[in-house]
Amino acid sequence: MSDWQKDGWRSKPRVQMPDYLDAAALGSVEAQLGRYPPLVFAGEARSLRAQLAAASRGEAFLLQGGDCAESFAEFSADNIRDTFKVMLQMAIVLTFGAKVPVIKVGRMAGQFAKPRSAPTETVEGIELPSYRGDIINELAFTEGARIPDPTKMLQAYTQAAATLNLLRAFSTGGYANVQHVHSWTLGFTDSDEAGKYRDIANRIQDTLDFMAAAGLNAETSPDLSRVDFYTSHEALLLEYEEALTRIDSTTGKWIAGSGHMIWIGDRTRQPDGAHVEFARGVQNPIGLKCGPTTTADDLKVLMSKLNPENEAGRLTLIARFGAGSVGEHLPRLIKAVKDEGANVVWSCDAMHGNTIKSSTGYKTRPFESVLREVREFFQIHGAEGTVPGGVHFEMTGQDVTECTGGVRAVSDEDLSDRYHTACDPRLNASQSLELAFLVAEELSARREKTAAAAVG
Ligand code: PEP
Ligand code: CO
Repeated sequence: MSDWQKDGWRSKPRVQMPDYLDAAALGSVEAQLGRYPPLVFAGEARSLRAQLAAASRGEAFLLQGGDCAESFAEFSADNIRDTFKVMLQMAIVLTFGAKVPVIKVGRMAGQFAKPRSAPTETVEGIELPSYRGDIINELAFTEGARIPDPTKMLQAYTQAAATLNLLRAFSTGGYANVQHVHSWTLGFTDSDEAGKYRDIANRIQDTLDFMAAAGLNAETSPDLSRVDFYTSHEALLLEYEEALTRIDSTTGKWIAGSGHMIWIGDRTRQPDGAHVEFARGVQNPIGLKCGPTTTADDLKVLMSKLNPENEAGRLTLIARFGAGSVGEHLPRLIKAVKDEGANVVWSCDAMHGNTIKSSTGYKTRPFESVLREVREFFQIHGAEGTVPGGVHFEMTGQDVTECTGGVRAVSDEDLSDRYHTACDPRLNASQSLELAFLVAEELSARREKTAAAAVG
């Protein structure tokens, strides 16, 4: 893109970004990051884009998930492994329902910076700047902790690099063997509460047994023990993004080296703002959050800025309206996409429109609302004749108590037990997997309807 510079965002209005007090310290961090290797490579981002192009046509399905905010304190191999593991389990269940490949994209290895609904937070009469994610400042409620510190970008880079290193090892080193991954799911459905999912789990097991009997196993077909696993995050902290943006030597085009896919949040999608300016010039697949305030006109401008060549797989629209509100908003945005003849992947973020305060004072999300939003999303795409291409969840492989409901019912009273998130409430491992079973039912119903329509 000849009219684009990686620092061009600096002359545009910016929101949700910190004002660093020490310009020299910031400059030195940026220079250092600028010399570090990129975390991902252009060829990987191109493969993800090709797979997302398939999702836009209904020939693949996107599963994007992970922490609301990765944290320095919770960084450990076990946490990374457990989220990876539950995403692979979900992917098998979804593949079975959709009968198409499931594209696995973690909110991992870079998901550190957070937009906030208010610039300050007041506790017991004391007002301090809001916490903005570990890459910017600290959660502790003290004046010093809330000062933005540019050196945190270096720690975030290191954590992202180590996370990605482990994810690459898990993806290709045998851990992702489909037989093993599914055996963990059988453990889940063996429990009394999750028994209603046993039938699907057993049918998947039968399929795997049949394949093994036919000679398809990890030894004869190495693809059965490896997966493609991609990373993504909100490209919010543009100093970090710019420093990791490089020219791809194969194509001569710019690529954000901070993750395979980046997205623009609901609070930073101003068509003439800094975040859109940055994202439009890099070749990575781009996500765009669409919320209740997204107008059809804004969406049209954003689509033409972010995907001027209308390439399939470049742009994923991540709808996040809230259960009960999808019918009010999604149809007009689908119409805008149809009017423009735009190629997009439609994904459903069933988390960010469903945050409530529990009776015990915790920020939570009811499992039923998350499920209901996904169902409304599928139902509207069914009525419009468009493709529901993916889902987006805040989730963890840990057994936390942050969202209520699910078969191992978490109640308002339980929330205080293991409420560990630094930001928004996440589905725990059991809730995530259960949701995958329920989404798989939607996918398989849709498949049957499409097949019946083709025959009729
Ligand atoms: C997020 O995905 O963590 C987020 C803040 O979402 P949104 O921009 O849609 O509110
Ligand atoms: Co969030």
